[in-house]
Amino acid sequence: MPTPSSQDSFLDTNLAAAFPILQQKIYQKSLIYLDNAATTQKPIQVIQALQQYYEQYNANIHRAAHTLSSIATRNVEDTRAMIQQWINAATTEEIIFTQGTTAAINLVAQTYAKQQLNAGDEILISLLEHHANIVPWQMLAQEKGVVLKVIPVKTDGTLDMDAFDQLLTAKTKMVALVHISSTLGIINPIEQIIQKAHARHAVVLIDGAQSIAHMPIDVQQWDVDFFVFSAHKAYGPTGLGILYGKKQYLEMMPPYQGGGGMVAHVTTHQSKYQPLPYKLEAGTPPIASICAFQEAIRFIQTIGYTKIQKIEHALLVYAQELLQKIPAITLYGTTDVKKKIGIIALNVQGMHHLDVGLLLDARGIAVRTGLLCTQPLIDYWQVDGMVRISLAVYNTFQDIAITVQALKNIIQKHGT
Ligand SMILES: Cc1ncc(COP(=O)(O)O)c(C=O)c1O
Repeated sequence: MPTPSSQDSFLDTNLAAAFPILQQKIYQKSLIYLDNAATTQKPIQVIQALQQYYEQYNANIHRAAHTLSSIATRNVEDTRAMIQQWINAATTEEIIFTQGTTAAINLVAQTYAKQQLNAGDEILISLLEHHANIVPWQMLAQEKGVVLKVIPVKTDGTLDMDAFDQLLTAKTKMVALVHISSTLGIINPIEQIIQKAHARHAVVLIDGAQSIAHMPIDVQQWDVDFFVFSAHKAYGPTGLGILYGKKQYLEMMPPYQGGGGMVAHVTTHQSKYQPLPYKLEAGTPPIASICAFQEAIRFIQTIGYTKIQKIEHALLVYAQELLQKIPAITLYGTTDVKKKIGIIALNVQGMHHLDVGLLLDARGIAVRTGLLCTQPLIDYWQVDGMVRISLAVYNTFQDIAITVQALKNIIQKHGT
């Protein structure tokens, strides 16, 4: 088992040093931030890029003849090209800027699915989904009479693939599935799922909100139809999401919202739309966030996914082994750690999850508690919430050791 000192072999630099927010104290204790699945912290270069936009080239894009607007426009399009290469999309037209993962899923539900699916057609989701990949499909089901089916999970938290095989039929027109569970950290076998879905002519949307910061994404190799994620969960700014869609499907989608930027010609009664990607990007986008996201991508690429996975896996193994030794702690989704990223869901016997979270906060440790935006999954375990520890690449063995010790102290003082 790795020890705190063996971190040095993974890290030649102290990654946390690049994150100003991590240098502060909470209740006189050094902040240990373990709520990364909700949002990651931002390295100094992302913060500086935001400031640079507002100080040096704040302007709206696409619409002006002046220099600042050209710089902003070029930077926005540079980010689009960077994302295209990063996730290996075929063209920049396939990269749509949205407000986040939630907005991207709603966009697909309200345009592609609303137009292409009919009453009686089926959409497959799973019990692992974040509310963002449940509610938009429920809304569509109510509106259009399409039927929502749910792939169950097994007791170790993994998807029940036999059930998936049975649920996937000729009626399935869409499979909308989370890549990595935000509550359990379990990585779904999406390549296998995409292949099987395509064999049935179903279109696949993968929610990559929890994968983008932790593992390489290759949308062409996977042959995925839609892939969505949020910048803020990958060291980038808030208010920005990405919808990747195969051009053939994006072309089929009517505009979601109308307004400036997405039109080529407007009369009072009719409009001609811009080609992709602009057709699906009405109004002023989050320009500062888009420009600064380049620095977040560079941060990830400079470390490299191989090293990110090595660090986070070692931290996960260390944390899980320590936590498993504490009898008062129940862990959920304890499948093979090789199939997981650094997310651990737990409860402390006899204690409310919120109390555990507040007592950790009093020790400077930030975790998430409650339904974790995955209520159907929490209900499956018949509890009213969980405590979630979620790791990022800047976390350390020391963070884990201090947190586990804090949990032990809390249990000793407040547990049953
Ligand atoms: C798996 C998953 N999907 C979707 C979302 C929603 O992301 P956002 O709030 O950035 O739209 C989250 C956020 O926690 C998530 O973890």
